[in-house]
Amino acid sequence: MLGRPSWRFTEVDSTQNVAFRLAELGGPHGTVVRADYQTAGRGRQGRSWDSPPGSALMFTVLLRPKHPLHTLGPLSIQVADALADVFSSYTSGPLNIKWPNDVMIDGQKVSGILLQTRPMPSPVAVLGIGVNVDTPIHLLPPNATSLAQNSDSRVDIDTVFSDVVHSLDELWRLWQPELEEHQIATIESRLWQLGQEVSLLDANREIRGQIAGITNHGALRLLDQDGEHLCVAGEIMRGPRPIDPSESR
Ligand code: BTN
Repeated sequence: MLGRPSWRFTEVDSTQNVAFRLAELGGPHGTVVRADYQTAGRGRQGRSWDSPPGSALMFTVLLRPKHPLHTLGPLSIQVADALADVFSSYTSGPLNIKWPNDVMIDGQKVSGILLQTRPMPSPVAVLGIGVNVDTPIHLLPPNATSLAQNSDSRVDIDTVFSDVVHSLDELWRLWQPELEEHQIATIESRLWQLGQEVSLLDANREIRGQIAGITNHGALRLLDQDGEHLCVAGEIMRGPRPIDPSESR
């Protein structure tokens, strides 16, 4: 079961680091590490995740998957979808998933996911989740929001935590490395900028195309004049970016 045992710290460097350390010490599958504050919180693409103490939900789940680590690709976007389900009971704002795994309310990021794996002696994955629960708006980065900001009633961080862990437990129980058609359809119905022209930056390479959906392995399908590109890594930029300045006029 995910969530047992559950560790809670006032301050750590990163719950990802603590989860890896616990894994080295033989910590069991399902262990959760939660912190009120991280001094070196990590995000995707080498970014940091900084939140003032107590205002964001920050935790990591230690997984010891039965499936090979390289098959975990679709897990992140499924977790984003599960988070969006949970958040829908806190907000009536439009919930979207920005590929590969950001959850957005009304186009603003409310939650991020960081999945890291290590072969160790036996394979380990650490699934880190950050949710802006009631982070004051002036302390949020640009294009970010919080659950509280989009809710009419008080949002209790411990309740969000238990709702999310419960939902992740259900997801993991049935988890398979390939998305089924109905799962793809559900995720695509929430995909941010579906059908729109975007730029995707991957290791300094820019691909422009129209978001057509995702594959059964969670890759992004981008369409351009040459056909379909399957993207497994990278970051969608906000809106199409002009290749040369004259295009923007
Ligand atoms: C992203 O949006 O780029 C991913 C952010 C993931 C942040 C969480 S907070 C808990 C866990 N510990 C970390 O250091 N990072 C993840």
